[in-house]
Amino acid sequence: MSLFSWKPEYSVNDLTLDRHHQQLFTVLNSVYENVMNSPELDCVLPKIDELSDYTKYHFSTEEEYMKEKAVPDIDAHIEKHRQFTNKIDALRARYKNNDLEVARDLIIALGEWLLQHVLKEDRKYLDIQATFTTPSA
Ligand SMILES: [Fe+2]
Ligand SMILES: [Fe+2]
Repeated sequence: MSLFSWKPEYSVNDLTLDRHHQQLFTVLNSVYENVMNSPELDCVLPKIDELSDYTKYHFSTEEEYMKEKAVPDIDAHIEKHRQFTNKIDALRARYKNNDLEVARDLIIALGEWLLQHVLKEDRKYLDIQATFTTPSA
């Protein structure tokens, strides 16, 4: 069973961004499984790179979406994206062969980010926007 499972109640009412978040869950699960099963540097670094690349792609899409919709407090949200990107880059730089402490920090950082950001921050902003933009049938 996967560590992280996307559920319909995590939806931000946008099909593209929901698909991105689902893909993020998939990538996070693969990083976790990789760290647990094959913590060697050669195996883990490509997974961290995949996570980093997909995260950057998702953040730019989400930020464009928020700018288009004039979502309030967008700068604070973008800053959180930057902080997460920097955290992943720092953990990648620290990752050494079989370094279980860094592996543990990586999994904690990913889990915290999923819980705090995708499931709370993204939904807070996007749900507010959905309330304003939902057509009245
Ligand atoms: Fe997001
Ligand atoms: Fe976000």
